[in-house]
Amino acid sequence: MSKTLENIEAAKLEWDEQGQPFSTLFNDVYFSKASGLEESRYVFLQANNLQERFSLLGEYQHFVIAETGFGTGLNFLAAWQLFSQSAPANAHLHFISTELHPLKIADLQRALALWPELSALSSQLIDSYPMPTPGMHFRNFESGRIHLSLLLGDANVLLPQVLDSDHPAITHTESRAVDAWFLDGFAPAKNPALWSEQLLQTLGRLSRIGTTAATFTAAGDVKRALQSVGFSVKKITGFGKKRDMITAVKTESNHIPYKGDTEQEKTDPRHSAHDTPWHLSSKTDKKPEHVVIIGSGIAACTTARTLANKGIKVTVIDKNPAAARGASGNPQAVLYSKISTNDGYLSRFVLASYPYALHYYQQLQREYPDLVFHPCGVMQLAVNEKTEKQQGTLCDYFNQIDNALPCFLNTEQATDIANLPIKHAALFFEKAGWLNPENVC
Ligand SMILES: C[S@@+](CC[C@H](N)C(=O)[O-])C[C@H]1O[C@@H](n2cnc3c(N)ncnc32)[C@H](O)[C@@H]1O
Repeated sequence: MSKTLENIEAAKLEWDEQGQPFSTLFNDVYFSKASGLEESRYVFLQANNLQERFSLLGEYQHFVIAETGFGTGLNFLAAWQLFSQSAPANAHLHFISTELHPLKIADLQRALALWPELSALSSQLIDSYPMPTPGMHFRNFESGRIHLSLLLGDANVLLPQVLDSDHPAITHTESRAVDAWFLDGFAPAKNPALWSEQLLQTLGRLSRIGTTAATFTAAGDVKRALQSVGFSVKKITGFGKKRDMITAVKTESNHIPYKGDTEQEKTDPRHSAHDTPWHLSSKTDKKPEHVVIIGSGIAACTTARTLANKGIKVTVIDKNPAAARGASGNPQAVLYSKISTNDGYLSRFVLASYPYALHYYQQLQREYPDLVFHPCGVMQLAVNEKTEKQQGTLCDYFNQIDNALPCFLNTEQATDIANLPIKHAALFFEKAGWLNPENVC
């Protein structure tokens, strides 16, 4: 029997009298009551010396931050803001964060409303917040200058997957490692799983000499675990009422045992567990200088744009006199995806890629207002009983994770929204829409 779609438990919050979130699952605060934003700047940005490090980046250089608990995204937004203020215009920030219990969208909006000075950035995060389905969700902002990899699930499972994969955050950097760590997973006493020895070993493997780490805690176990993976650890004054906190820098390239442990892995501990050909190239290849793309449909043009944003010269060749004259020649392309009710690689891919596509076109529309992406909403009609049943199952799934997700409409609701007589029930994707591929190209 096929497996049903895997679920993820959302964060459970209470709000204090100042309107700040508190986790009832972990019985702990998301950030300091004194000021979450100032805490984030002091504990994570300043203690990792990010302003200076961002300002010293070269053209098209990538800086990678990895975080253990995304929570409200406050650290991400504070880092994004600082990067925009301090890094050269063509440098890239890649922010990887893990989250076991993502906030529901309404909670995220409420939490981020606490920081009006970040509103220009937080509105973009809110608009593109992924459907909280397990796995990796990628989002680009500012034409790909800011890249967020939000890994939904247990950090103990997902960070080793970054290590095993050719994750772009790692393969894009010359050192192929994280540059700075934000260890922000509730107090170790309240959430020991996020400070496990195994996780800190993964952290060690994803680091290089010079990688830094910072955390609000000064717990002895954390200090010793960081030391055991080659970090020199310093206690400094903590934020607000906290007496101390930890900063660390990797100074020793001690070998951390891993999997097969061949000779090759000893010199490059982040070996790949994969032997599929598409995993081989980026391990050894340098960034290409010039790429030729044959064809100029929507896939070709999107690839060309992405490469150009990374500073790679691109030549597009097509037999037609203009772009998008072949299979992408339809003047009205609807963003549409059929989501299966069964778990499997394809459904996981669709659940991550469909919202990614919506986010991608929303971002493009911000940059090129003439592009005209029409987010009029898309209905998938339940034209027979089988489809209606499948859509009901999908809707129950979405409702369990966040009731702000795609919803099931009866015929009257569908008729009302479409302003046309609709004879079928429907699954409604409110943020979806259509565009003309030629405009995108
Ligand atoms: C202190 S909060 C993080 C605050 C956050 N950095 C922010 O800017 O709002 C800790 C986060 O770690 C998450 N978390 C707890 N255990 C986890 C695990 N095993 N894997 C991934 N995330 C986890 C919690 O759900 C919570 O959102």
